[in-house]
Amino acid sequence: MTCDENLGDGYSVGPLRIVGRAVLAPLSGVTDLGFRRVARRFGAALVVSEMVASDDYVLGAAEARLRAEGEGVAPHVVQLAGCEPGWMAEAARLAEASGASVIDINMGCPAKRVTGGHAGSALMRDLDLATRLIEAVRGAVSVPVTVKMRLGWDHAHLNAPELARRAEAAGVAAVTIHGRTRQQFYKGNADWRAIAEVTRAVAIPVVANGDIGSTDDARRCLAASEATAVMVGRAAVGRPWLVGRIAAELAGRSYAEPTLAEKGEAAVEHYETLLSLFGRDAGVRHARKHLAAYADAATEDGGGLKPADRLRLVTTDDPATARALIRQAFAARPELRAAA
Ligand SMILES: Cc1cc2nc3c(=O)[nH]c(=O)nc-3n(C[C@H](O)[C@H](O)[C@H](O)COP(=O)(O)O)c2cc1C
Repeated sequence: MTCDENLGDGYSVGPLRIVGRAVLAPLSGVTDLGFRRVARRFGAALVVSEMVASDDYVLGAAEARLRAEGEGVAPHVVQLAGCEPGWMAEAARLAEASGASVIDINMGCPAKRVTGGHAGSALMRDLDLATRLIEAVRGAVSVPVTVKMRLGWDHAHLNAPELARRAEAAGVAAVTIHGRTRQQFYKGNADWRAIAEVTRAVAIPVVANGDIGSTDDARRCLAASEATAVMVGRAAVGRPWLVGRIAAELAGRSYAEPTLAEKGEAAVEHYETLLSLFGRDAGVRHARKHLAAYADAATEDGGGLKPADRLRLVTTDDPATARALIRQAFAARPELRAAA
């Protein structure tokens, strides 16, 4: 049975039918256009842009525009951050006009520079403002609106069910819950069971997130959270194909892991996209963390580089050298394993 024929394998975000139940998380500085293209091509059900500051985006800041870029990605989800309904509505309008098929609102970011401006997870401390933001965005666009949040600000205030209820009443099409509080940042374990409080509070799809690194994790998370789908973040860094694997295995489809060489070509494609998106110099700099992650993933898969070559990969300014080293990393290298 193919994914499309299996009606159980997917969910709806408003009028959009999402095929598959594993979604790539928004990761600032990571889920750039190149990363999202590769993840989607390998079968991620949905991919989400990095958080885009609504005011910067409206004012035309180059970085914000690049983060919201979605050429070649469908459906294209743009995540907006902010705490002013006016900026958020304008940014949403602009994103829709630029091709966004879903607007996601960030109510989960714990960073002080974001919460200090009362955006991100700080909105979970002011549900009236959070609701006004949602209503402003909903009123500004005709595409579906979703919200990503945490369990609450801290364990004394686990108000995700209440925020999700308000979001649903305001017409939000789906919510994602990262199973930690803001005060936990990324410490401790994600509490998948606590997400079930949200699942039971609303009828819209709930996407569960936090600490999912395999299909087995995804299954356990879905059972504990009673959620519709899972979202995978950090485990996909250096492995954009992982989300597609989880989506396929959750659907019970037979899954052929891409070969090392196919992964290498995907990493090269990602690298090329960064160079054309940011321009050569900024692209080379932006790519470095990805190249380090790809080299590590390749090592785990039976490829990898000698330490001196790995260093060259993550420091070179020369795209031809980088391309050659990526391909070298994703070649089977039994001699490296034997030496390890
Ligand atoms: C480097 C990094 C950047 C992130 N950027 C965003 C972001 O832009 N928007 C957002 O909603 N969440 C962001 N998150 C949170 C992730 O989307 C996700 O909720 C969190 O990492 C837990 O999922 P995971 O355990 O699968 O990584 C970020 C997390 C990390 C580690």
